[in-house]
Amino acid sequence: MKSQDILLKELKKNTHHHVSGEMIAKKCGVTRAAIWKDVQSLREMGYDIDSHPHEGYRLQGVPDKLFADEVLDGLGTKYVGRQVFSYESLDSTNTAAWRLGEEGYPEGTAVLAEHQKKGRGRLGREWVSPKGKNLLFSILIRPTAPPSDISKITLLLALSSVRAVKRSYGVLLGVKWPNDLVYHDKKVGGILTEMNAEADRIHFVVAGLGLNVNASKEELPEIGTSLLQISGIKRSRVTLLQAIFEELENDLDRFKSGGFEKLSEEWESYSQTTGRRISVTLQGRTVQGEARGIDKEGALWVRTDSGLLERIVSGDVLHLRRSIR
Ligand code: BTN
Repeated sequence: MKSQDILLKELKKNTHHHVSGEMIAKKCGVTRAAIWKDVQSLREMGYDIDSHPHEGYRLQGVPDKLFADEVLDGLGTKYVGRQVFSYESLDSTNTAAWRLGEEGYPEGTAVLAEHQKKGRGRLGREWVSPKGKNLLFSILIRPTAPPSDISKITLLLALSSVRAVKRSYGVLLGVKWPNDLVYHDKKVGGILTEMNAEADRIHFVVAGLGLNVNASKEELPEIGTSLLQISGIKRSRVTLLQAIFEELENDLDRFKSGGFEKLSEEWESYSQTTGRRISVTLQGRTVQGEARGIDKEGALWVRTDSGLLERIVSGDVLHLRRSIR
């Protein structure tokens, strides 16, 4: 372990009092001057460290940054987020995670970014997010499932996120089929799931989430909102991310042991689509009708205006007017 890492660990263990520079220097086998340099470089990273001539150093605040070490500190998972690649800026976390998938990185590997230059949404749209305010991340998943299960992964990440937000903020978000997190019809987050597969086998899946956490009203499009706007609370993005990773790992484990049925029931309980009058665009045609809910495979059933029941596996959904249910 580097002396800077040992220093930070000691400071975090003792936030109520100062820690002697000499003691840390001894522990690390370096000079006090080297520890002073480490303190300076931590300060440059945004850590607020008080120094006292006789008593030493005390940590007064951690930066609101998605540093890999911060994410790992206190993370209660076995594999999700155990390997983290964190970037200040990159094209797209999905693209980066895809590369890691090709290179053979294990399931649960995560790519995080403070900013994306080419953030991607579904159906070729772009995903724009102000720097350092929200969560932008992708997870590599290696399910032993057929390619038709891809949509289940999207629903699963939506569920994990809803639960994590509920746990951290006490706010219950809704889900809009297939990939949106919403609050009173405003978009709070979106999921982009991409798959590398052959006809009957998935090699890997990259599931990316863009979640509006601390963005102000001005930084968001008219149709969007953020957790800060909804709750008035500015929370640490790291704590929220850890909660999402923990929920996701539980859900993935349930999914792998054949428990998608229970997950789909829970998804239904958060659904903002079911019972709504919707318009779905799929492969060049548009269907209008009433959404009847999802089935065990995660597909959406719609009672169309012509009276037919249609099963929709993927498509772009527009909620038309509120239902009376
Ligand atoms: C959508 O609503 O259309 C999906 C948006 C998904 C955005 C996230 S941000 C992190 C990850 N990287 C990307 O380029 N896209 C996803």
